[in-house]
Amino acid sequence: MTSPTPSPPFAIEIANLTVSYGPVPALLDISVKIPAGSLVGIIGPNGSGKSTFIKSILGFVRPDVGEVKIFGESAEQAKGQVAYVPQRGSVDWDFPITVREVAMMGRYGAVPWWKDLGRRDRQIADQALEMVRMQEFAHRQIGQLSGGQQQRVFMARAMAQGAEILLLDEPFAGVDAATERAILDVLAQTKKAGRTLLVVHHDLATAAEYFDRLLLLKQRLFAFGPPQAVLHPRLLSEVYEGNLRVFADMQSREFVADDEVSR
Ligand SMILES: Nc1ncnc2c1ncn2[C@@H]1O[C@H](COP(=O)(O)OP(=O)(O)OP(=O)(O)O)[C@@H](O)[C@H]1O
Ligand SMILES: [Mg+2]
Repeated sequence: MTSPTPSPPFAIEIANLTVSYGPVPALLDISVKIPAGSLVGIIGPNGSGKSTFIKSILGFVRPDVGEVKIFGESAEQAKGQVAYVPQRGSVDWDFPITVREVAMMGRYGAVPWWKDLGRRDRQIADQALEMVRMQEFAHRQIGQLSGGQQQRVFMARAMAQGAEILLLDEPFAGVDAATERAILDVLAQTKKAGRTLLVVHHDLATAAEYFDRLLLLKQRLFAFGPPQAVLHPRLLSEVYEGNLRVFADMQSREFVADDEVSR
């Protein structure tokens, strides 16, 4: 007798999600299933709901309608499985805490509250700092770093958490080539470990290179699929309303059939 083949595990399942801050919904009727182990770039213009989408997965904003499941559980139940690096400028790091302490913060969720962080936790935090090449700054106050360096430390904290899902809100915004490289290393290592990454990204020129799937948002979900399919001129012109320079580059690419894109 053959047993039925198990369906592919989804890291995140979103059904009919609508989120509003005021009269106009920031996200409208979004349904999407994100397979475990995928490296997803979230694209869309300013104000299109990308950060809100990430916050919905974290359970930071309450949906008007719809639900989010993380490995089949509610956001509340799955808290420890999701690590988050917020959009730059949204956190004020003006209090005295060192780089190493920030990386160590990633370990608190992983350790029962009655246990102190041990040598192993310190090792994990230090390895994460090494991965983003910030170990030499371990004893520096976080407020005394440049924006790009702070970004790397937050990546380290998220890595140290060991969560199955990483949500990064524009990690590449305003960083130099070295930080970009360090962040790409983190993405590659995380994917290699079989974890799921959702990364808000603005640069359409690098989107196909960095991610294996793209999710195109503007209040609604316009497309979710392989980059070549999502970066389709017709879709992009609908969402970006005349970003012509990018289109000129895209025209020369090969596109896969439209039916590969779920919309
Ligand atoms: N806390 C809030 N209160 C009221 N409106 C909000 C709030 N946060 C976001 N919005 C609105 O919701 C919409 C989506 O915002 P969101 O921050 O999700 O967009 P985004 O795609 O991340 O934009 P950006 O590319 O500029 O970061 C925008 O119209 C924004 O003004
Ligand atoms: Mg945003």
